[in-house]
Amino acid sequence: MRAIHVLNGPNLNLLGRREPGIYGSATLAEIERDSLARAGELGVSLTFRQTNHEGELVTFVQEAGAAGAGVLINAAAYTHSSIALRDAIVGAGVTAVEIHLSNVHAREDFRHVSLIAPVCAGVICGFGAYSYRAGLDALAHLLSGRQPPSPDA
Ligand code: DQA
Repeated sequence: MRAIHVLNGPNLNLLGRREPGIYGSATLAEIERDSLARAGELGVSLTFRQTNHEGELVTFVQEAGAAGAGVLINAAAYTHSSIALRDAIVGAGVTAVEIHLSNVHAREDFRHVSLIAPVCAGVICGFGAYSYRAGLDALAHLLSGRQPPSPDA
């Protein structure tokens, strides 16, 4: 069975009460439950983790690589600052998809830059908690090795 690790960065443990106008009302525990249910439908195993510490997030990426898992990552603020995280994604050789609850491109300038996007397969942002579900679907599709449908199919 293919494996996916969903990795969450700093302050995402506060979801539900953290700036709900931007991030929505779902808690991280609710997003985890929904992700586990979706993983069951997709036939992938799921590990869901959160940390407030940059080095620990690096370790989580390395552990996903060692387990042969794909990575769905909401690196939160480390998205915009962490060279270590970018190096970890490359070094661990993981297939990664970057996600955000909010549309980072519609927010402050410093959120328009992602240091990890260039080493991820793709980016999904702006759909609230649904970004996790869309990201899971996209990553499971990538890991399955299936080709996207051609336009004239
Ligand atoms: C976020 C966007 C980041 O800019 C911010 O630092 C976060 C959450 C999001 O999911 O919208 O903590 O990653």
